Parts: sequence; structure tokens; C-alpha cells
Amino acid sequence: MAKPLLAVIVGSNRRESINRKLAQAMVKLGADKFDARIVRIDDLPMFNQDNENNLPTEVVRFKDEVARADGVLIVTPEHDRSIPAVLKNAVDWGARPWGKNSWAGKPGFITGTSPGAIGSALAQQHLRSVMTGLGMILLGGEAYVTFKPNLVDDHGNIADESTRKFLQDHIDRFAFLVGRLSGEPARSAA
Ligand SMILES: Cc1cc2nc3c(=O)[nH]c(=O)nc-3n(C[C@H](O)[C@H](O)[C@H](O)COP(=O)(O)O)c2cc1C
Repeated sequence: MAKPLLAVIVGSNRRESINRKLAQAMVKLGADKFDARIVRIDDLPMFNQDNENNLPTEVVRFKDEVARADGVLIVTPEHDRSIPAVLKNAVDWGARPWGKNSWAGKPGFITGTSPGAIGSALAQQHLRSVMTGLGMILLGGEAYVTFKPNLVDDHGNIADESTRKFLQDHIDRFAFLVGRLSGEPARSAA
């Protein structure tokens, strides 16, 4: 049976993004449970309501990739104690036009990292509020990851064992949530 499809959105357009590296490592953690695809947001034009009934090609592609996914993993840094603009722009395109909200009813898992002690917690909290308002069904719990230079090793794996186990637990619970919401028989998270 096909595995559920995970759309992975990284809240950074930086070439060496630590959140993209974390996202790729998390895809590896979930490889036996999900097929995953990183969905670009760096090519989306700045949101303009004038265009919401004649969506730019990149936006059509973006909304289509989200629509086809069984769940959405968002891995985001924190900018100025909130959601990075590039990610908020993608959220806004996803939400519009009225009646075509890409997020409603979609299972979501929010995490992210920054070098600060609270590991992008404020950005994640703001994003939780926004996505809940848009009808996304979010995985419970909190997954704030303080970035350390060895967070992801040269092989693309989470190096620290306790962080790896922490994130594995979230991925496993998210797979369970996605399974339940897709109407498949309940599967053990173990
Ligand atoms: C405009 C801007 C604002 C930032 N604000 C915060 C912040 O509020 N909290 C924080 O922990 N880090 C902040 N940072 C540092 C980012 O966490 C850091 O640049 C991190 O590498 C971003 O993740 P990325 O590599 O995935 O883009 C900020 C960086 C920028 C460029």
C-alpha cells in the first residue's frame, strides 16, 4: 500500500538554511512511514489580492502540491520573534481565494530551529495560531529545536541521540495522526 504523502515546507529561502537541513533529516526519520516532497515557496510572488482569482503559475503549483499531500510538515526559523515573511507569504497564498483554502482539514506538524535558546518557539507559536485559524489540524506538543553546529551530521542525520529520539517520537505521532485522519485503520505509533 502506498505511504501517505508529506508536503514539507521550509520557512527559509536561505541557500544554507539550517531549517532545510533539519527538514531533510526529519524526512529521513520518517522514511518508512511517509513519502515526502519538499514544496518550494521561494519562487512565490509577493501576495497580492488582485491576483487571487487569476493565480500566478507558481501559486497554482504550490497549492496543487499542498492539496495532493496527506499531511504538511512545516520547519521554520524565527524572524524578529515571529513567522518569516517568505513563509507567511506562502500561508497567505494557500489560504486564498475564499473557498479554496489549501490548509483547511489538513494535518500539520510545526517545528523548526534557530540558534537562540528558545529554538524558534515564538515563530512556531504564532504559526500555530495562524494555521489553527485556517482550519489545519495540528499535531499536539511542542518541537522547539535549539540549533547547534552538529545538529545535522555530514550524512544528513540528527547527530544528538536525545534530539533524534525527540523528533522521531513527533514524526511517529504525526504518522499516526495522518493515518487516522485519512480514514485508514488506526496504526500503532510504535
Ligand atoms: C531578519 C532576521 C530576524 C531574525 N530574528 C530571529 C529571532 O527573532 N529569533 C531567533 O532565534 N533568531 C532570529 N534570527 C536568526 C535566525 O534564527 C538564523 O538566521 C537562522 O539561521 C535562520 O534559519 P535558516 O538558516 O533556516 O534561514 C533572525 C535572522 C534574520 C535574518
